[in-house]
Amino acid sequence: MSLNKFYTTLNGQLEGLLSGERDWLANTANASALLFMELEDINWAGFYFLYGDELRLGPFQGKPACTRIPVGAGVCGTAVSTGESQLVEDVHQFPGHIACDAVSASEVVVPLYDDAGRCLGVLDIDSPSVARFSEEDLAGLQEFARVLLKSSDLPAS
Ligand code: SME
Repeated sequence: MSLNKFYTTLNGQLEGLLSGERDWLANTANASALLFMELEDINWAGFYFLYGDELRLGPFQGKPACTRIPVGAGVCGTAVSTGESQLVEDVHQFPGHIACDAVSASEVVVPLYDDAGRCLGVLDIDSPSVARFSEEDLAGLQEFARVLLKSSDLPAS
């Protein structure tokens, strides 16, 4: 799917923002700030990093969130256990959804992989509106994740 103008612009902004800096923590922090600033109708944007069989909270924007999510639990843990992005129209219909912020109604989660196929964690975005995220959003955010990954030195295994 070719990216729409919004995501072409956003991902160009990300490339500019990250140019000259390859630190993974710094870049995920700025990436979450960019998402929170530019995406309309969202209440949380950030990262969870994978440590063994659990995800731990990374840089984010939004209300304080749960710090640890077992692989396989919630939307984030499901993205890791299945290896698939999750586009959830209504989180209240998602079995095992973990409600960090009660206003969250829809969610998109993109798992992050290095070139060797190792899962590093997830990008997670929540919205207070049901069905906020479309397939176009998902494609744009998957590309956003690719830009982030190629622009950063990834954590050592
Ligand atoms: N809702 C997520 C938990 C993380 S928060 O959305 C920030 C889940 O079910 O995995």
